[in-house]
Amino acid sequence: MKPFYLTTAIDYANGSPHLGHAYEKILADVIARTQRLLGHEVRFVTGLDEHGQKVQQGAEREGISPQARCDGIAEEFKSLLKSLNVHPDDYIRTTEERHKKVVCHLLTDLYERGEIYQAEYKGFYSTRAEQFLQEKDKVDGKWPEIYGEVTEITEKNYFFKLGKYQDWLIEHIRTNPTFIAPDYRQNQVLEFLKEPLNDLCISRPKERLSWGIPLPFDANFVTYVWFDALVNYVTAAGFGHKSEFERFWPADLHVIGKDILAPPHAVYWPIMLKAANLSLPKQILAHGWWTSSGAKMSKSTGETVNPLELVEQYGSDAFRYFVMREMTVGRDAEFSLERFESRYRTDLGNDLGNLLSRLLHMLERYCGGLVPETPVRGKPEENLSLLWEETKDRVMNDFSGYRFNQALDHLFGFFRSINKYADERSPWKLAKSDKAEDQQYLQTSLATMVEALRLGNVFLAPVMPEVHYAINERLGLPSCLAWKQELDWGDRLVGKKLGQKTILFPRD
Ligand code: ME8
Ligand code: MG
Repeated sequence: MKPFYLTTAIDYANGSPHLGHAYEKILADVIARTQRLLGHEVRFVTGLDEHGQKVQQGAEREGISPQARCDGIAEEFKSLLKSLNVHPDDYIRTTEERHKKVVCHLLTDLYERGEIYQAEYKGFYSTRAEQFLQEKDKVDGKWPEIYGEVTEITEKNYFFKLGKYQDWLIEHIRTNPTFIAPDYRQNQVLEFLKEPLNDLCISRPKERLSWGIPLPFDANFVTYVWFDALVNYVTAAGFGHKSEFERFWPADLHVIGKDILAPPHAVYWPIMLKAANLSLPKQILAHGWWTSSGAKMSKSTGETVNPLELVEQYGSDAFRYFVMREMTVGRDAEFSLERFESRYRTDLGNDLGNLLSRLLHMLERYCGGLVPETPVRGKPEENLSLLWEETKDRVMNDFSGYRFNQALDHLFGFFRSINKYADERSPWKLAKSDKAEDQQYLQTSLATMVEALRLGNVFLAPVMPEVHYAINERLGLPSCLAWKQELDWGDRLVGKKLGQKTILFPRD
């Protein structure tokens, strides 16, 4: 079976990583782990987008070479991935030779087949801002002060024939309703495609921008950064190495943020592939933004949360849990420290952490740490196992549909029900009784809690891999590698010696 090929956006090398970057990589990592647990082979790739004006300018400001600046930023992003426990199979950087080769190959091919042509471009250019301006940039009929002197210039450039594929793309989106997810984002793309599509200028004259991949057919120009960056997805799939590429391409899923859906991913990219006679990715998943006081967190607003600080303080799993629990994939979410702390205390500390520690404590105290059998069963046991059946189906469904927040909501509801079950049976009271029946129910209640916790923990694996491991370790089990056959209520832990009591989510 074809491996599941999964990518994220490659981050701009023009600043340090922030919460938005961390979230996207965690989201993709959770999807990768979920696919593996479902039994699929996965190739998961992320990386860094290193060319373009902003990177060049940033390097100039710091007085270092653009490459040196990118090398530094690459280290920062990679170490973030590590501390988030995000493990891509490949990390692609657009300054790598393997990537430049692929970009040049595609450009040459498209140029030779007439998909790229040269034309003159006439427009208003601001030297200070180093960009072309449009009529709409005027304020009260005049160019604003920030642009300095604006002159009309004529410049030769290279253009990619986007326009001729417009109808084909509209048709593709209409006939493939799962191509863009969540589905309400399709309309936004179709809306964009209502206006006539201009051909895309894919070159920048070298005298204005030198930090880019030179056009293979005209060394006076470098490649427009989006045309370069999008190609990373085929480079990392092994383009140019036939058997490897055929194995991985097309991508099963591109995970990106909503700001780069239309036009780059939903318009330029499919058309580039179509023009190059390559197949299209199966799906593009556009997530929303993390905001702070309503504004998008970004390098330019300065409103950023340094994910590393939270990870250092609370651990990567708590952070992963928070972002996956708090954000509906596709929608925006507001970040607040209070909210983070509250989830840490209640969901993680009370619902899950206390469950494990009280359970291990009681088992040690009443059963010498050995998991007992279930000698009797009553209504509460029945209810809990029925609830598991229901939870299992809903959580599976939500994981497959990228509804991680709902999956976690159901799952933690189940953990709370285990706690309620414990309160209902009150093993600590049963332990004090001499009655044979009470002693039987004491065993039943502890065995039931152990089995329920084992089952719920199976679903923590993709989101909180370390916590999952820690719980399973206490239960005498290895980490779960495949969900199949792990999800049925049974008695496989009977007779096992459980580990010592532990505090999963410490409070200082
Ligand atoms: O766009 N909340 O790079 P980038 C959630 N290099 N996600 C956010 C976010 C926020 N506040 N801010 C950014 C680029 N992101 C290009 C991509 S792909 C061939 C080239 C997301 O560093 C953003 O939506 O600006 C994007 O998916 C990713 O972080 C990288 O953003
Ligand atoms: Mg951006």
